[in-house]
Amino acid sequence: MMEISWGDLTPEKFLHEYWQKKPLLIKQAVANFQGTIEADELAGLAMEQEIESRIISHDGNSQWQVKHGPFTDFNQFGDNNWTLLVQAVNNWSRETNQLLSLVNFIPRWRVDDVMVSFSTPDGGVGAHLDQYDVFILQGEGRRRWQVGAPDESLTTLLPHPDLKQVSAFTPIIDEITEPGDLLYIPPNHPHNGVAIENSLNFSIGFQAPSSQDLWSGFADMLIDKNLGEARFADQDRNMCNDPSLLDENDINGLQQFMLTQVKQPEVFNEFTGKFLTQSHHALELLIPMEPFEPSYVTELLDNDDIHLAPVSGVKALIINTPTPQLFINGEVFQLSEETKQLAIKLTKSEPLTTKELKSFTVCLKNTQLLTSVLNKGYWFIEE
Ligand code: SIN
Ligand code: CO
Repeated sequence: MMEISWGDLTPEKFLHEYWQKKPLLIKQAVANFQGTIEADELAGLAMEQEIESRIISHDGNSQWQVKHGPFTDFNQFGDNNWTLLVQAVNNWSRETNQLLSLVNFIPRWRVDDVMVSFSTPDGGVGAHLDQYDVFILQGEGRRRWQVGAPDESLTTLLPHPDLKQVSAFTPIIDEITEPGDLLYIPPNHPHNGVAIENSLNFSIGFQAPSSQDLWSGFADMLIDKNLGEARFADQDRNMCNDPSLLDENDINGLQQFMLTQVKQPEVFNEFTGKFLTQSHHALELLIPMEPFEPSYVTELLDNDDIHLAPVSGVKALIINTPTPQLFINGEVFQLSEETKQLAIKLTKSEPLTTKELKSFTVCLKNTQLLTSVLNKGYWFIEE
Protein backbone atom coordinates (compact mmCIF):
# COMPACT_ATOMS: atom_id res chain seq x y z
CA MET A 1 0.00 0.00 0.00
CA MET A 2 1.26 3.47 -0.87
CA GLU A 3 0.88 6.42 1.43
CA ILE A 4 1.37 10.14 1.03
CA SER A 5 4.24 11.66 3.08
CA TRP A 6 2.25 14.58 4.42
CA GLY A 7 5.07 16.57 6.06
CA ASP A 8 3.38 19.05 8.41
CA LEU A 9 -0.08 17.99 7.29
CA THR A 10 -2.21 14.97 8.13
CA PRO A 11 -5.06 13.53 6.04
CA GLU A 12 -7.49 14.99 8.62
CA LYS A 13 -5.98 18.47 8.26
CA PHE A 14 -5.95 18.12 4.50
CA LEU A 15 -9.67 17.29 4.45
CA HIS A 16 -10.42 20.14 6.79
CA GLU A 17 -8.31 22.84 5.14
CA TYR A 18 -7.85 21.88 1.49
CA TRP A 19 -10.30 19.28 0.20
CA GLN A 20 -12.69 21.05 -2.24
CA LYS A 21 -11.36 24.38 -0.96
CA LYS A 22 -7.73 25.15 -1.80
CA PRO A 23 -5.04 23.73 -4.09
CA LEU A 24 -1.93 22.25 -2.52
CA LEU A 25 1.47 21.09 -3.68
CA ILE A 26 3.14 18.43 -1.54
CA LYS A 27 6.82 18.18 -2.48
CA GLN A 28 8.15 14.61 -2.34
CA ALA A 29 4.78 13.22 -1.29
CA VAL A 30 5.90 9.89 -2.77
CA ALA A 31 9.69 9.81 -2.37
CA ASN A 32 11.54 7.89 -5.11
CA PHE A 33 8.41 7.60 -7.20
CA GLN A 34 9.42 5.86 -10.42
CA GLY A 35 6.10 5.92 -12.21
CA THR A 36 3.90 2.86 -12.73
CA ILE A 37 4.05 2.70 -16.52
CA GLU A 38 6.64 3.74 -19.13
CA ALA A 39 5.96 6.26 -21.89
CA ASP A 40 6.14 3.56 -24.58
CA GLU A 41 3.67 1.33 -22.72
CA LEU A 42 1.33 4.32 -22.47
CA ALA A 43 1.68 4.84 -26.22
CA GLY A 44 0.80 1.13 -26.62
CA LEU A 45 -2.42 1.62 -24.64
CA ALA A 46 -3.28 4.63 -26.85
CA MET A 47 -3.19 2.26 -29.84
CA GLU A 48 -6.05 0.16 -28.42
CA GLN A 49 -9.56 0.60 -29.74
CA GLU A 50 -11.37 0.44 -26.39
CA ILE A 51 -9.04 2.80 -24.53
CA GLU A 52 -9.87 6.51 -24.62
CA SER A 53 -6.90 8.68 -25.56
CA ARG A 54 -6.13 12.03 -27.13
CA ILE A 55 -3.16 14.07 -28.23
CA ILE A 56 -3.25 17.82 -27.74
CA SER A 57 -0.62 19.87 -29.51
CA HIS A 58 0.08 23.51 -30.26
CA ASP A 59 2.35 25.40 -32.59
CA GLY A 60 3.79 27.72 -29.93
CA ASN A 61 1.57 30.43 -31.39
CA SER A 62 -1.83 29.67 -29.81
CA GLN A 63 -2.96 27.35 -32.61
CA TRP A 64 -4.17 24.16 -30.91
CA GLN A 65 -4.93 20.72 -32.34
CA VAL A 66 -6.76 17.77 -30.77
CA LYS A 67 -6.53 14.25 -32.16
CA HIS A 68 -8.41 11.28 -30.74
CA GLY A 69 -7.05 7.76 -30.46
CA PRO A 70 -6.60 4.97 -31.23
CA PHE A 71 -3.24 6.08 -32.65
CA THR A 72 -1.07 4.10 -35.03
CA ASP A 73 2.05 6.22 -34.98
CA PHE A 74 3.42 9.13 -33.01
CA ASN A 75 6.22 10.33 -35.30
CA GLN A 76 4.15 13.09 -36.88
CA PHE A 77 4.01 14.93 -33.53
CA GLY A 78 7.74 15.68 -33.30
CA ASP A 79 9.79 16.34 -30.15
CA ASN A 80 7.95 19.28 -28.57
CA ASN A 81 4.61 20.98 -27.83
CA TRP A 82 2.34 17.98 -27.44
CA THR A 83 0.84 15.78 -24.79
CA LEU A 84 -0.77 12.34 -24.92
CA LEU A 85 -3.55 11.73 -22.38
CA VAL A 86 -4.89 8.24 -21.69
CA GLN A 87 -8.00 7.74 -19.53
CA ALA A 88 -8.46 5.00 -16.93
CA VAL A 89 -4.96 3.54 -17.26
CA ASN A 90 -5.68 1.87 -13.90
CA ASN A 91 -8.14 -0.41 -15.74
CA TRP A 92 -5.20 -1.86 -17.72
CA SER A 93 -2.25 -1.59 -15.35
CA ARG A 94 -2.44 -3.07 -11.87
CA GLU A 95 0.59 -1.03 -10.72
CA THR A 96 -1.24 2.13 -11.79
CA ASN A 97 -4.38 0.98 -10.00
CA GLN A 98 -2.34 0.63 -6.81
CA LEU A 99 -1.84 4.42 -6.84
CA LEU A 100 -5.44 4.65 -5.62
CA SER A 101 -4.27 3.51 -2.19
CA LEU A 102 -2.68 6.99 -1.85
CA VAL A 103 -6.18 8.38 -1.37
CA ASN A 104 -7.53 5.71 0.95
CA PHE A 105 -8.56 8.46 3.37
CA ILE A 106 -11.39 9.20 0.93
CA PRO A 107 -13.89 6.41 0.16
CA ARG A 108 -13.31 4.51 -3.05
CA TRP A 109 -16.72 5.36 -4.46
CA ARG A 110 -15.58 8.97 -4.76
CA VAL A 111 -12.70 8.00 -7.06
CA ASP A 112 -13.13 7.74 -10.82
CA ASP A 113 -9.90 6.75 -12.53
CA VAL A 114 -6.19 7.31 -13.01
CA MET A 115 -5.48 9.26 -16.16
CA VAL A 116 -1.86 9.26 -17.32
CA SER A 117 -0.29 11.87 -19.55
CA PHE A 118 3.00 11.97 -21.38
CA SER A 119 4.12 15.46 -22.33
CA THR A 120 7.02 16.63 -24.43
CA PRO A 121 8.76 19.98 -23.66
CA ASP A 122 6.21 22.84 -23.73
CA GLY A 123 3.41 20.28 -24.01
CA GLY A 124 0.19 20.59 -22.02
CA VAL A 125 -3.55 21.05 -22.47
CA GLY A 126 -3.50 24.79 -21.76
CA ALA A 127 -5.18 26.73 -18.93
CA HIS A 128 -8.52 25.15 -18.06
CA LEU A 129 -11.00 24.19 -15.34
CA ASP A 130 -12.17 20.72 -14.34
CA GLN A 131 -15.38 19.91 -12.52
CA TYR A 132 -13.70 17.27 -10.41
CA ASP A 133 -11.05 17.11 -7.73
CA VAL A 134 -7.76 15.72 -8.90
CA PHE A 135 -4.44 14.63 -7.40
CA ILE A 136 -1.64 14.87 -9.96
CA LEU A 137 1.50 12.92 -9.19
CA GLN A 138 4.64 13.76 -11.15
CA GLY A 139 6.45 10.76 -12.58
CA GLU A 140 9.60 11.20 -14.65
CA GLY A 141 10.48 14.71 -15.84
CA ARG A 142 9.61 18.16 -14.61
CA ARG A 143 6.62 20.34 -15.26
CA ARG A 144 5.67 23.90 -14.39
CA TRP A 145 2.26 23.96 -12.72
CA GLN A 146 0.22 27.07 -12.16
CA VAL A 147 -3.04 26.89 -10.22
CA GLY A 148 -5.40 29.78 -9.49
CA ALA A 149 -8.50 30.38 -7.39
CA PRO A 150 -12.02 30.18 -8.85
CA ASP A 151 -12.61 33.41 -10.74
CA GLU A 152 -15.92 34.44 -12.30
CA SER A 153 -14.18 36.94 -14.57
CA LEU A 154 -12.29 34.25 -16.52
CA THR A 155 -13.63 33.72 -20.00
CA THR A 156 -14.04 30.37 -21.70
CA LEU A 157 -11.93 29.90 -24.83
CA LEU A 158 -12.42 27.27 -27.51
CA PRO A 159 -9.15 27.24 -29.47
CA HIS A 160 -10.39 23.96 -31.00
CA PRO A 161 -13.94 22.51 -30.94
CA ASP A 162 -12.74 19.69 -28.62
CA LEU A 163 -10.65 21.83 -26.33
CA LYS A 164 -12.05 24.08 -23.63
CA GLN A 165 -9.60 26.51 -22.07
CA VAL A 166 -9.85 29.63 -19.93
CA SER A 167 -8.25 33.06 -20.23
CA ALA A 168 -5.08 33.92 -18.28
CA PHE A 169 -5.49 33.63 -14.50
CA THR A 170 -3.52 34.77 -11.47
CA PRO A 171 -1.71 31.76 -10.02
CA ILE A 172 -1.67 31.10 -6.29
CA ILE A 173 0.61 28.13 -6.89
CA ASP A 174 3.40 28.48 -9.45
CA GLU A 175 5.94 25.71 -9.02
CA ILE A 176 8.01 23.19 -10.87
CA THR A 177 7.03 19.63 -10.04
CA GLU A 178 9.64 16.89 -9.88
CA PRO A 179 9.25 13.11 -9.60
CA GLY A 180 7.23 12.27 -6.47
CA ASP A 181 5.63 15.73 -6.08
CA LEU A 182 1.86 15.68 -5.68
CA LEU A 183 -0.48 18.49 -6.66
CA TYR A 184 -4.05 18.65 -5.41
CA ILE A 185 -6.51 20.76 -7.43
CA PRO A 186 -10.11 21.28 -6.26
CA PRO A 187 -12.94 21.59 -8.83
CA ASN A 188 -13.20 24.83 -10.81
CA HIS A 189 -9.71 26.06 -9.97
CA PRO A 190 -7.97 27.18 -13.18
CA HIS A 191 -4.73 25.35 -13.80
CA ASN A 192 -2.05 24.90 -16.40
CA GLY A 193 0.77 22.36 -16.55
CA VAL A 194 3.56 22.94 -19.05
CA ALA A 195 6.25 20.30 -19.39
CA ILE A 196 9.85 21.44 -19.05
CA GLU A 197 11.19 18.10 -20.23
CA ASN A 198 9.51 14.83 -21.24
CA SER A 199 7.09 14.23 -18.38
CA LEU A 200 4.74 11.59 -17.11
CA ASN A 201 1.85 12.72 -14.91
CA PHE A 202 -0.52 10.42 -13.01
CA SER A 203 -3.90 12.03 -12.25
CA ILE A 204 -6.20 10.45 -9.71
CA GLY A 205 -9.55 11.90 -10.73
CA PHE A 206 -12.61 11.89 -8.50
CA GLN A 207 -16.24 11.38 -9.41
CA ALA A 208 -19.07 13.52 -8.13
CA PRO A 209 -22.40 12.50 -9.62
CA SER A 210 -24.62 15.34 -10.77
CA SER A 211 -28.12 15.57 -9.38
CA GLN A 212 -29.55 14.99 -12.87
CA ASP A 213 -27.46 11.84 -13.34
CA LEU A 214 -28.65 10.51 -9.99
CA TRP A 215 -32.30 11.31 -10.71
CA SER A 216 -32.23 9.83 -14.17
CA GLY A 217 -30.39 6.70 -12.98
CA PHE A 218 -32.88 6.36 -10.15
CA ALA A 219 -35.84 6.79 -12.50
CA ASP A 220 -34.38 4.15 -14.85
CA MET A 221 -34.21 1.70 -11.97
CA LEU A 222 -37.78 2.45 -10.80
CA ILE A 223 -39.01 1.82 -14.34
CA ASP A 224 -36.91 -1.36 -14.77
CA LYS A 225 -38.21 -2.82 -11.54
CA ASN A 226 -41.67 -1.32 -11.88
CA LEU A 227 -41.40 0.25 -8.44
CA GLY A 228 -43.09 3.52 -9.30
CA GLU A 229 -46.58 2.42 -10.23
CA ALA A 230 -48.31 3.64 -7.06
CA ARG A 231 -50.54 6.68 -7.67
CA PHE A 232 -50.78 9.91 -5.76
CA ALA A 233 -53.44 9.61 -3.03
CA ASP A 234 -55.19 12.28 -0.91
CA GLN A 235 -57.64 10.69 1.49
CA ASP A 236 -57.40 13.62 3.91
CA ARG A 237 -58.31 16.27 1.40
CA ASN A 238 -59.85 19.48 2.77
CA MET A 239 -62.45 21.62 1.05
CA CYS A 240 -60.97 23.64 -1.77
CA ASN A 241 -61.98 27.26 -2.11
CA ASP A 242 -60.21 28.08 -5.32
CA PRO A 243 -60.14 25.19 -7.84
CA SER A 244 -57.66 27.06 -10.03
CA LEU A 245 -54.99 27.06 -7.31
CA LEU A 246 -52.38 24.35 -6.77
CA ASP A 247 -51.76 25.12 -3.12
CA GLU A 248 -48.75 24.58 -0.83
CA ASN A 249 -50.37 21.54 0.75
CA ASP A 250 -50.72 19.74 -2.57
CA ILE A 251 -47.25 20.80 -3.66
CA ASN A 252 -45.83 19.36 -0.44
CA GLY A 253 -47.89 16.22 -0.92
CA LEU A 254 -46.55 15.69 -4.45
CA GLN A 255 -43.01 16.40 -3.29
CA GLN A 256 -43.28 13.87 -0.46
CA PHE A 257 -44.84 11.39 -2.87
CA MET A 258 -41.87 11.73 -5.23
CA LEU A 259 -39.41 11.23 -2.38
CA THR A 260 -41.09 8.03 -1.11
CA GLN A 261 -38.73 5.62 -2.86
CA VAL A 262 -35.66 7.84 -2.41
CA LYS A 263 -36.25 7.50 1.32
CA GLN A 264 -36.72 3.72 1.24
CA PRO A 265 -33.31 2.29 2.19
CA GLU A 266 -33.92 -1.04 0.44
CA VAL A 267 -34.60 0.83 -2.82
CA PHE A 268 -32.20 3.76 -2.56
CA ASN A 269 -29.20 1.89 -1.14
CA GLU A 270 -29.33 -0.77 -3.82
CA PHE A 271 -29.59 1.91 -6.49
CA THR A 272 -26.65 3.92 -5.11
CA GLY A 273 -24.42 0.88 -4.73
CA LYS A 274 -25.05 -0.12 -8.35
CA PHE A 275 -24.80 3.42 -9.68
CA LEU A 276 -21.55 4.28 -7.94
CA THR A 277 -19.71 1.07 -8.82
CA GLN A 278 -20.48 1.28 -12.53
CA SER A 279 -17.27 1.85 -14.43
CA HIS A 280 -17.23 4.87 -16.73
CA HIS A 281 -14.51 3.30 -18.86
CA ALA A 282 -13.95 -0.06 -20.53
CA LEU A 283 -12.69 -2.84 -18.24
CA GLU A 284 -10.79 -5.97 -19.12
CA LEU A 285 -13.55 -8.32 -17.91
CA LEU A 286 -12.59 -11.97 -18.12
CA ILE A 287 -15.80 -13.95 -18.40
CA PRO A 288 -15.11 -17.72 -18.53
CA MET A 289 -16.24 -19.52 -21.70
CA GLU A 290 -18.18 -22.00 -19.57
CA PRO A 291 -19.49 -20.89 -16.19
CA PHE A 292 -17.66 -22.53 -13.26
CA GLU A 293 -19.48 -24.76 -10.79
CA PRO A 294 -18.87 -24.17 -7.06
CA SER A 295 -17.40 -27.69 -6.87
CA TYR A 296 -14.79 -26.70 -9.48
CA VAL A 297 -13.87 -23.61 -7.44
CA THR A 298 -13.46 -25.79 -4.35
CA GLU A 299 -11.05 -28.06 -6.25
CA LEU A 300 -9.23 -25.04 -7.63
CA LEU A 301 -8.45 -23.86 -4.14
CA ASP A 302 -6.50 -27.05 -3.46
CA ASN A 303 -3.94 -25.68 -5.86
CA ASP A 304 -1.00 -23.82 -4.31
CA ASP A 305 0.38 -22.05 -7.34
CA ILE A 306 -2.60 -19.94 -8.39
CA HIS A 307 -4.12 -16.68 -7.20
CA LEU A 308 -7.53 -15.20 -7.69
CA ALA A 309 -7.25 -11.59 -8.81
CA PRO A 310 -9.73 -8.78 -9.43
CA VAL A 311 -9.89 -7.20 -12.86
CA SER A 312 -7.76 -4.07 -12.57
CA GLY A 313 -9.81 -0.95 -11.79
CA VAL A 314 -13.08 -2.78 -11.11
CA LYS A 315 -15.08 -0.86 -8.49
CA ALA A 316 -16.49 -2.64 -5.48
CA LEU A 317 -18.12 -1.51 -2.27
CA ILE A 318 -20.19 -2.78 0.61
CA ILE A 319 -23.39 -1.31 2.00
CA ASN A 320 -24.45 -2.68 5.40
CA THR A 321 -28.03 -1.39 5.61
CA PRO A 322 -30.81 -2.41 5.55
CA THR A 323 -29.18 -5.75 4.70
CA PRO A 324 -25.49 -6.34 3.86
CA GLN A 325 -24.80 -6.18 0.14
CA LEU A 326 -21.68 -6.32 -1.99
CA PHE A 327 -21.62 -4.24 -5.17
CA ILE A 328 -19.18 -4.85 -8.00
CA ASN A 329 -19.32 -2.94 -11.25
CA GLY A 330 -23.01 -2.08 -10.99
CA GLU A 331 -24.07 -5.53 -9.83
CA VAL A 332 -25.40 -6.54 -6.40
CA PHE A 333 -24.50 -9.67 -4.42
CA GLN A 334 -26.61 -10.31 -1.31
CA LEU A 335 -24.47 -11.05 1.75
CA SER A 336 -25.05 -12.99 4.93
CA GLU A 337 -23.11 -13.09 8.21
CA GLU A 338 -20.99 -15.93 6.76
CA THR A 339 -20.02 -14.12 3.56
CA LYS A 340 -19.30 -10.64 4.95
CA GLN A 341 -15.61 -11.21 5.69
CA LEU A 342 -14.94 -12.63 2.24
CA ALA A 343 -16.87 -9.73 0.67
CA ILE A 344 -14.60 -7.25 2.46
CA LYS A 345 -11.58 -8.99 0.90
CA LEU A 346 -13.25 -8.84 -2.51
CA THR A 347 -13.49 -5.04 -2.27
CA LYS A 348 -9.76 -4.60 -1.62
CA SER A 349 -8.65 -4.87 -5.25
CA GLU A 350 -5.70 -7.09 -4.30
CA PRO A 351 -5.13 -10.67 -5.48
CA LEU A 352 -5.93 -13.39 -2.95
CA THR A 353 -3.97 -16.60 -2.49
CA THR A 354 -5.72 -19.95 -2.44
CA LYS A 355 -4.46 -20.29 1.13
CA GLU A 356 -6.26 -17.11 2.19
CA LEU A 357 -9.42 -18.23 0.45
CA LYS A 358 -9.40 -21.84 1.61
CA SER A 359 -10.43 -20.95 5.17
CA PHE A 360 -13.53 -19.15 3.86
CA THR A 361 -14.74 -21.93 1.67
CA VAL A 362 -15.49 -24.35 4.46
CA CYS A 363 -18.80 -22.51 4.11
CA LEU A 364 -20.62 -23.21 0.85
CA LYS A 365 -22.06 -19.68 0.72
CA ASN A 366 -18.54 -18.29 0.37
CA THR A 367 -17.73 -20.74 -2.41
CA GLN A 368 -20.93 -19.65 -4.17
CA LEU A 369 -20.01 -15.97 -3.81
CA LEU A 370 -16.53 -16.62 -5.24
CA THR A 371 -18.03 -18.64 -8.08
CA SER A 372 -20.42 -15.79 -8.94
CA VAL A 373 -17.72 -13.11 -9.11
CA LEU A 374 -15.55 -15.42 -11.25
CA ASN A 375 -18.45 -16.18 -13.58
CA LYS A 376 -19.19 -12.47 -13.99
CA GLY A 377 -15.56 -11.91 -14.98
CA TYR A 378 -14.88 -9.44 -12.14
CA TRP A 379 -12.28 -11.78 -10.69
CA PHE A 380 -10.15 -14.26 -12.57
CA ILE A 381 -7.79 -17.18 -12.00
CA GLU A 382 -4.15 -16.17 -12.23
CA GLU A 383 -1.52 -18.88 -12.66
C1 SIN B 1 -2.16 16.43 -17.38
O1 SIN B 1 -1.81 17.13 -18.33
O2 SIN B 1 -1.49 15.48 -16.98
C2 SIN B 1 -3.36 16.78 -16.61
C3 SIN B 1 -4.27 17.57 -17.42
C4 SIN B 1 -5.18 18.36 -16.52
O3 SIN B 1 -4.76 19.34 -15.98
O4 SIN B 1 -6.36 18.02 -16.36
CO1 CO C 1 -7.14 19.61 -15.46
